[in-house]
Amino acid sequence: MSASPLPLIPLPASVTLTEGAAPYRPADPSDLHLTVTVDAAAGGPEAYMLRITERGIQIMAGGPAGAFYARQTLAQLEHDGEYPAVVIEDAPRFAYRGVMLDVARHFQPVETVKTYIDHAASLKFNHLHLHLTDDQGWRLALDSRPALVEKASTTSALGDPGGHYTREDWTEILEHAASRHVTVVPEIDVPGHTHAVGLAYPELAADPVISDLVLETVETFGGGLPLPGHPYTGWAVGFSSLKHDDPEVDRFLSDVFTELARITPGPYLHVGGDECHGTDPADYAVFLEKVTAIVAATGKTPVAWHEAGAAAGLHPATVGQYWNYVQPEPGQDAPARAFGSRGGLIMSPADVAYLDMKFDADSPLGLTWAKGVTTMQDAYGWEPTAILDGVDPDRILGVEAPLWSETARDLADIEQLAFPRIGAIAEIAWSPAGAHDAAGFEARTAALISRWKAAGIRIPTP
Ligand code: ACM
Repeated sequence: MSASPLPLIPLPASVTLTEGAAPYRPADPSDLHLTVTVDAAAGGPEAYMLRITERGIQIMAGGPAGAFYARQTLAQLEHDGEYPAVVIEDAPRFAYRGVMLDVARHFQPVETVKTYIDHAASLKFNHLHLHLTDDQGWRLALDSRPALVEKASTTSALGDPGGHYTREDWTEILEHAASRHVTVVPEIDVPGHTHAVGLAYPELAADPVISDLVLETVETFGGGLPLPGHPYTGWAVGFSSLKHDDPEVDRFLSDVFTELARITPGPYLHVGGDECHGTDPADYAVFLEKVTAIVAATGKTPVAWHEAGAAAGLHPATVGQYWNYVQPEPGQDAPARAFGSRGGLIMSPADVAYLDMKFDADSPLGLTWAKGVTTMQDAYGWEPTAILDGVDPDRILGVEAPLWSETARDLADIEQLAFPRIGAIAEIAWSPAGAHDAAGFEARTAALISRWKAAGIRIPTP
């Protein structure tokens, strides 16, 4: 298959321009002479065929999601009211294609989340992972534990205002996501990243552990040291933990994840498990075993950051999310590899897939801890199945691009960090492995940037 000259991201599996045929120009732009057939015989539920002739447009899709993706492709093909005569046959490489938004460090209102869903869905992402809790705030109202939002949601990082989602907000996000064929994956991060829980339930929180990393972060970025009972507005990580071996903590986990399961239609609940620097490894393992069992008992599939793979008794269905580097650091690949024989892996290597890394050293937005600036070439130049030796490629469920919000205060910041690198991750997640082509990708990105800008998306000027 040759690279498509058309401005399509992610690149479809097959694009055939109809030689000699004139572009299609509908007389009335609001009537495209579009026929849509949904039939399982046309492929998997996300597969589609799009045919444009001088007379009109035909879509055949394996399911409603496929028809939706055909329309996203169609939107990228339109130029000055014309469509090229083309036949596109397309289906995703990976079943899991995700973006993540951290709404804990900086709370993001419902409209921002909905807009980010629209951006992601236009690039054929099908999962939105919401990082709903962290040291800086708890963002989802739960009937079983109302104190969480009452006492732990009003601030954000940098001392900015906080916020939380009511049950109505949650329903609005879920419905908007579903209308774009996006599954929401909520994360309640435990046992670490839980300073905010201690504002509502001091008796559940262990004392903060102030490591050299915490001191270094505070020295570099400010924000002060975390103090029990006071909102934390800095950026340090790894100092907080829920208590271990405490029946009140067990009740808390059971209340939170049982309610979360009840109000979440998708199959996954993310339990976090990252950066528990102050926790004894044996205590950590018991905790992760317990929380993944609680989630599995609700009927959902647990997801955990890859460190959790070290816990021998983790629920066997648990999916791991890998966030170390393309070249794993010593000790990071073994726990990740353990998910190969559990629920499989979602790949989010921080040095290429973290959209909150700086795109340019001079930008005030973004961080640099994941090996410095992440360029478009970095974001595009990696292969998800080649990172963890010994993991069967079939056990790689897909790819996710997280966007942490230490520096991202609003939608404009989110867009500037995400675009255009989000297109690179979309293409890695969707397009056939053999189709990757850096020069073609650069040309297609350049063509789409002007459209994205015209649509009002804030994109940094190179
Ligand atoms: C992470 O970046 N701590 C998952």
